[in-house]
Amino acid sequence: MLSLEAIRTAADRLSTVARVTPLEYSYAFSERTDAEVYLKLENFQRTGAFKIRGAINRIATLSPAERDAGVVTASAGNHAQGVALAATRAGVDATIVMPEHAPISKRKATRRYGGRVVLEGIDYEEAQTKAREIEREEGRTYVHAFDDEAVMAGQGTIGLEILEQQPAVETVVVPIGGGGLIAGIATAIKTQRPDVRIIGVQAAGAASVPDSLEAGEIRPRESVDTVADGIATRSVGQRPFEIIQQHVDEVVTVSDEEIALALTLLLERSKTLVEGAGAVALAALFEERFEYRDGEVIVPALCGGNIDLNVLTTVILRGLVQMGRYLKITTVLKDQPGALQGLIGIIADQQANIYSIHHERTSREIGMSDTEVEIELETHGPQHAAELLAELRDAGYEVTVEK
Ligand SMILES: Cc1ncc(COP(=O)(O)O)c(C=O)c1O
Repeated sequence: MLSLEAIRTAADRLSTVARVTPLEYSYAFSERTDAEVYLKLENFQRTGAFKIRGAINRIATLSPAERDAGVVTASAGNHAQGVALAATRAGVDATIVMPEHAPISKRKATRRYGGRVVLEGIDYEEAQTKAREIEREEGRTYVHAFDDEAVMAGQGTIGLEILEQQPAVETVVVPIGGGGLIAGIATAIKTQRPDVRIIGVQAAGAASVPDSLEAGEIRPRESVDTVADGIATRSVGQRPFEIIQQHVDEVVTVSDEEIALALTLLLERSKTLVEGAGAVALAALFEERFEYRDGEVIVPALCGGNIDLNVLTTVILRGLVQMGRYLKITTVLKDQPGALQGLIGIIADQQANIYSIHHERTSREIGMSDTEVEIELETHGPQHAAELLAELRDAGYEVTVEK
């Protein structure tokens, strides 16, 4: 079983390569939640995520013969980059198998950190099969992303840092994918401070742990679907699961919409960019998925910041929708001069800003003399959006809102 000693040893090994990431008090989020919120900014870690911690520690445990033979792993994301950089820094050759459609930015980053990238398979499972083949054929050591004691010990160093940076901490909130991160952090904290609560968070579209805990054994999902790609795993690992059973107080879930809102608020209020998985802990706090008292010292772990910029655009729009700051409406007008003016006059009176207007005349759903108008709007918040919709409907427009 993972020990505090192993995590302390990992911290020594990490010190020359990985960063001790900041723990920042958040005025904005403390006010919003009535808690005392400190953000563990692991998105500022080298390679943009915590994964390098586990990778460095695992590679440090290789025997001389294993070092010579090199390592191999499969990953489409942060683990790939972590292993590539950790291996390069240790002078160990690393082969990383990525699914064929892995984002170009991630492939490039992995190569930049010195990894040899092999593209194989349509998803993580197929990439993993190829990586296991390379392990056998080339005698390389497979570096598992989470189901490995040395990897979990490396991730656990975040727990040591949190206790040192804020000894008054009462609750730590940690995302769960394969469970290596929370297993490490929970061990580091509970073995020293059993009074500190550890809350795990999964994306609702990739949650297997709540059911597994209830069943007392791992219950993998058939499929996963979430914007938080870093934690889009069908199941936790066996070792992490046992530690979660022992040390984690509660595991909760958040939806993609809630993740988008937390991510957008982090950008706007904290000037901090995280990926979907990096926002789930804060989302769980915002949505009060677990109980806490006013003034409680809570640390959400923002574990990664590697988000694809195209995905970011969509996520921000979704976040603005949640905040009532972006509204897309559709209505039908007579296709005649002045009809549009009447509609936008109401919008202008309500002080809403129009981003775009689109006319659709070919839809079979509308009469030949009608035109369908789709308008994207900037509103000031949920109340403003509701008032605008009420004004439009009072004026006789049949308005539908795109969710
Ligand atoms: C940004 C980010 N957060 C959280 C996790 C979850 O870590 P674990 O799989 O150890 O639970 C991952 C895993 O890849 C990740 O990349």
